Amino acid sequence: MKKYLGKKISTAIFISGRGSNLKNLIKFSKSKISPIQINFIFSNKKNSPGFMYARNNGFKTLCLPNRNFMSIEKKLLQILNKKKIKLICLAGFMKILSSNFIKKFRGKIINIHPSLLPKYKGLNTHIRVLRNREKYSGCTVHFVNSKLDSGKIILQKKVKIRKNDTAKKLSKRILFEEHRMYPKAIIKISS
Ligand code: GAR
Repeated sequence: MKKYLGKKISTAIFISGRGSNLKNLIKFSKSKISPIQINFIFSNKKNSPGFMYARNNGFKTLCLPNRNFMSIEKKLLQILNKKKIKLICLAGFMKILSSNFIKKFRGKIINIHPSLLPKYKGLNTHIRVLRNREKYSGCTVHFVNSKLDSGKIILQKKVKIRKNDTAKKLSKRILFEEHRMYPKAIIKISS
């Protein structure tokens, strides 16, 4: 892959939990091929491992728990504008953003979802996929619009379901592909 020569895109990452995609994006952002620079990390969950990691690694962070998300979004918008954020990557962010917020960042919010969208939007994807005896699942990076998990698809990767798969085993194999795919999707939309 080619070295990125342009001005780095000021990027924010939103998380809610474990933060493996966050860590992966941080690692990617430090590579020569990365078009992004991570300037802000937001979590809506106190004590989430991803947030702790961000805070302990010197990133500008903010954590505001779920209460009154309208006022949280207002504050977030102020910070994002102040930091001239041009791209928001949702990485295991489990809160639905308002259409007003999305409008303000139209075409600049992307999300990773652990299914082959448009199939299995929402939560508990792996359990539902296995229950329906699907042959394949996978992961998708897509633009965020005001409908849940419905924006334009940027990249998708198929993962074959194995005979004795469990939600845990499948999610592990899909997560591996998520980590490969998210950076590629960022490169794709920035070139
Ligand atoms: C990932 O599998 C991501 O695709 C999923 O949450 C997990 C977060 O893991 N996102 C969604 O389900 C969004 N609807 P991580 O915190 O280790 O990155």
